[in-house]
Amino acid sequence: MEKIGDYLFKHKGHVFVNNMTTPEYIDSLQTFEIRDSDIFLVTYPKSGTIWTQNIITLICESDYKDNDPFPNNFEKMPWLEYPEGHTEYSSRPSPRLFVSHLKPALMPPGLKEKKPKIVYVMRNPKDNAVSYFHFCHVWETLETPKTFEDFLQQYLVGNVGGSSWFDHIREWYTHRSEYDILFLTYEDMLMDLRSAVEKICKFLGREFSEAEVSRVVEKATFRNMKKDPKANYEFVPSDLLQKGTFMRKGTIGDWKNTFTVAQNEMFDLLYQERMKGVPFKFTWD
Ligand code: A3P
Repeated sequence: MEKIGDYLFKHKGHVFVNNMTTPEYIDSLQTFEIRDSDIFLVTYPKSGTIWTQNIITLICESDYKDNDPFPNNFEKMPWLEYPEGHTEYSSRPSPRLFVSHLKPALMPPGLKEKKPKIVYVMRNPKDNAVSYFHFCHVWETLETPKTFEDFLQQYLVGNVGGSSWFDHIREWYTHRSEYDILFLTYEDMLMDLRSAVEKICKFLGREFSEAEVSRVVEKATFRNMKKDPKANYEFVPSDLLQKGTFMRKGTIGDWKNTFTVAQNEMFDLLYQERMKGVPFKFTWD
């Protein structure tokens, strides 16, 4: 384990936030038993994780009939890499739902053997960086950056929880044929939420009527989700999330309010270099 400043550590090439997990727990995932019915959501942080988590839990809501034992989405669809709660995963009924920010190499090998469904959501990295920068001001265990320039330098070299955006996207793309994976972008979801919900339903093998799709779409809009105490993450204890919220703006193109012209030019050059051979197209505004 390598310490990165006071807030982060690196383990097996991946950067984690202190106090959220341990190298031992991450290693233990190599023997984590996967079921073919499991459903995973994988994202780089600040890419629309809690949004898609809400969509998937809404799609799977009928599985619980009237017996939903979970008070919120975090407990219903926990983060694989955070040890809290893991002792009861083996006794959960199927389908189990998990979220993760890990890259393929640290994932349980059972993901390749059992082929559970993986929904992978990515967001254009300029908005992603800006969202992350703001989040560093509200999440207590993250270092508050002095300036956006300081944060951007760390982001670009991958010295942030989740490592480098570029590596995350590239590694999942490169290993895609080993998994049963659906790639979606935050921007496509925002521009046409209904199509995104339909795609996820189809991928998860759920045949939903138009009315059932509408119900999910309605509950997953930024406005409605922000009011939903099971989904909006206002349930996070105030010693972790003191000064803000997970649901900030929910827009495309906010980076234009933050990036300078020089930062943007530098970013574009780096993007071209780092994303060579990766065919994803992002919407930037
Ligand atoms: P902004 O900070 O740009 O507003 P994550 O869940 O991966 O941490 O991502 C958080 C980002 O997703 C935040 O972006 C947040 O506002 C946005 N988000 C959360 N719920 C959303 C929704 N229902 N619709 C659109 N964006 C949403």
